[in-house]
Amino acid sequence: MIKIGVNGFGRIGKCVILQLLNNPLFEICCLNSVNIQINEIEEYLNYDSVHHYNKNFNIKIISNTKLQINHHNIEFTSDRDAKNINWKQFGCEYLIDSTGSYLTTTRCLDHNVDYVIMSSPAKDKTKTFIYGVNTDDYTGENIVSASSCTTNALSPILRLLNNKYHIENCVFTTIHATTSSQYTVDIVNKKSRTSRSIFNNIIPHTTGATSSVTSVLPNLIGKIHGTSVRVPVSNGSLLDVNITLSNKNITLQDIKNELIEHPLFKIVYDVNEKNLVSCDFITTTTPTILDYNASIDMGNGNFKLMIWYDNEWSYSSQLIRLVETMFTYNNTIKSKYYIENIPMENERVVCRVDFNVPKINNIVTDEFRITSAIPTIKTILSKNPKYLIITCHYGRPSAFNKTDSVEFMVPILEKYLNMPVTFLHNGICEETINYLNNNPSGIFLLENLRFHKEETSYEKNEDNNGKIINMYNQLGDVFICDAFGCLHRKHMSIYGIKYFNKKYGYGHLIKKELENIDILLNSNKKILSIIGGNKIQDKLPLINSLKNIKNSRVFIGGGLAKQYHENHPNIFIMNDGFGSNNLTDPNIIYIDNIKNPVYNIYDIGTNSLNELIDLVNDSDIIFWNGTLGVIEHEIYKLGSINFISMLEKMKGKTIIIGGGETASLITKNNKLCENNYMYISTGGGALLEYLQNKILYGKNLIGLHIYT
Ligand code: 3PG
Ligand code: MG
Repeated sequence: MIKIGVNGFGRIGKCVILQLLNNPLFEICCLNSVNIQINEIEEYLNYDSVHHYNKNFNIKIISNTKLQINHHNIEFTSDRDAKNINWKQFGCEYLIDSTGSYLTTTRCLDHNVDYVIMSSPAKDKTKTFIYGVNTDDYTGENIVSASSCTTNALSPILRLLNNKYHIENCVFTTIHATTSSQYTVDIVNKKSRTSRSIFNNIIPHTTGATSSVTSVLPNLIGKIHGTSVRVPVSNGSLLDVNITLSNKNITLQDIKNELIEHPLFKIVYDVNEKNLVSCDFITTTTPTILDYNASIDMGNGNFKLMIWYDNEWSYSSQLIRLVETMFTYNNTIKSKYYIENIPMENERVVCRVDFNVPKINNIVTDEFRITSAIPTIKTILSKNPKYLIITCHYGRPSAFNKTDSVEFMVPILEKYLNMPVTFLHNGICEETINYLNNNPSGIFLLENLRFHKEETSYEKNEDNNGKIINMYNQLGDVFICDAFGCLHRKHMSIYGIKYFNKKYGYGHLIKKELENIDILLNSNKKILSIIGGNKIQDKLPLINSLKNIKNSRVFIGGGLAKQYHENHPNIFIMNDGFGSNNLTDPNIIYIDNIKNPVYNIYDIGTNSLNELIDLVNDSDIIFWNGTLGVIEHEIYKLGSINFISMLEKMKGKTIIIGGGETASLITKNNKLCENNYMYISTGGGALLEYLQNKILYGKNLIGLHIYT
């Protein structure tokens, strides 16, 4: 099911909604319009001055913000600012923006949704896709333009003729119905003819179709020119296309046959041979209808083609087809790049993981990130590769150094894999390549990727200093990434592998992480986020995003509580605690108001813990990131430990743990899973950035394109 939102409820928004009402492939999850009240929607959908359509729909208003139409459960919002609408929260994955106000990628990024389709030509370089013309070139772009109705009518036939017979030149006029940008009576504005009454006039008008057509058919740049006149009909337009083809022998009959035999006949192309007029084409779904009798074959490859189109309805059909194409692509591609579906028998496999684990005195204190990647490594090994090289980073070194070597992971890996692991201590260099060229097999671990500056500055170096990148590329035939914690980094081993011209994909951990975060972002249930820790500047953007999710409340604990000052109805701040002068002071004092500046607070107090438990009881989904006190301290970790034992008594909750120290507390107290659904994230910056709706460059890997 394609989960869609519609922004704007004018001519296009309405036609899209009407066409989707009985379409079982789609669920309309949210509709935003500032021009209508929820109780006016029924009448608005039932009557229309131009279209004749099936009124086979049943509208039930559920609440002030919810309505049900047939199988669609629609959240109705009324907001001018996209930033205030949480499309994802209502389940939308795709959004048709038909407001005409969101026509650049930057603007569309304000929409909190994975894919946006602009229903007008973009005002920047956003890619344009037209169903039946260049949808084969779609590679997962998040924000696209579907161009204009005229472009959707004209470019399919131009593409067909150019591919078959080569277009020498083309001049067109669209005799176009009026739109809501025009006026019934003259208005005071002498600068534009659009100010004149459309009732009384044929009005020369501009069209963006020329540049829009060439953006999808770049071969036609310089060969196509066009204009438009607006005429006094409220819908239904006619393109008058004068065209010269290089192939001088073809006839109008040949062109007609091409259309009739085309696989998209009756979908994108149609031919009319009756004596019809514009109103006969109203509420048709085909964007390019050749009027055979009105067209002229002038001989010698010259034609005047007359093409009808319903500039509202067929354009909306094209929008819907575009969304379907995007959906199909994105879904097949996701599974195409999933490790299970990538053959690697006898191939050299490189797998990037995130083994950036905590260490104290050179001892790894938490192996969770390593164990989380083991299933992917085992899957690779089960596919009988020639060899497997595991690559990772540790810390943020700027050059080779002993302290940041990743050699310490060799015995840990050997323990989990029960196989010897050879350490490639030279990192990415000729020696390593030469060694690998001698046909070795088995499992290797490559020295810290970040010893090479090319890893972290991949983008800057990609064109000139490509030596390291080239050598990294030579390490294998298949590149798998399962480093969820690093997905927000635009690094060579994460973002770069897509451009290696090798097979690539992602592993089990990335899949699992993204699925679980989506529970949080896309659920309609009651969410409680518990955010603790110490650094307010790290957590503030996260708190701000979480507090704006619908049905979501945030409890702020730990050291953050004292630093957070905003009053917000969805925010609850820890108010009492235990502390002292400093962490080594043995006198532990109960502090009934943490704004009291005399002592430092190191753990949550009894009242706040009780308040937190009440909040948990009243929530379905618990997201916890950051401990409630200083857990390195035996006494001050008790608040967090007590909280976990109270959580253990809960039933039927979805508990998502956001990595780091919180996760290390939980893994040692694993009773939680018995009566609840629990997911522990490997977390890190990637998780926080994803929750803040920033870009995850690594989403590139799963066919979900990046925005840039
Ligand atoms: C992490 O620890 O969050 C990841 O390994 C990413 O590390 P980085 O923040 O140094 O890129
Ligand atoms: Mg980090």
